[in-house]
Amino acid sequence: MQLRNQFFFLFIGSVLAFAQHSQLYAQELERVTGLVLADGWQAVQANCTECHSALLITQNSGSRAVWESRIRWMQDTQGLHELSPELEATILDYLEEHYGQKDSARRASLPQHLLPVNPYESNGE
Ligand code: HEC
Repeated sequence: MQLRNQFFFLFIGSVLAFAQHSQLYAQELERVTGLVLADGWQAVQANCTECHSALLITQNSGSRAVWESRIRWMQDTQGLHELSPELEATILDYLEEHYGQKDSARRASLPQHLLPVNPYESNGE
């Protein structure tokens, strides 16, 4: 009986741990734009979706410097209006945190022995 109780509490514990875990990692997305719902999303929606879809933002990633350079490029060449320093900081904080630099967006290379034969490679003859 006691062993059964232990299993019961272990089971309940796992369920609670799982529930907490999924709550921590589930990112809630805004219904229309698909932006991560977190501080700053309204600033991005208000200033960054008049010319193109938010998808252009959500499918991109990069460090703060990369996001800043994209903003400068749009200001210099695409007619993006000046942003006040506070507004720009809010937008960059948001983008850096939720669409930051990825460790790697590419899969690892295949090992040599799995590659097809290269017909152009000299075989030493
Ligand atoms: C005045 C119009 C305008 C506004 C406002 C605007 N953009 Fe853009 N943005 C563009 C244009 C034009 C492109 C190029 C689209 C294309 O290549 O099809 C672009 C491209 C992009 C790209 C893709 C860049 C790349 O390297 O492919 C990202 C990311 C982006 N914008 C983010 C933003 C963010 C963040 C904001 C708000 C701070 C913003 N945009 C506001 C006009 C704008």
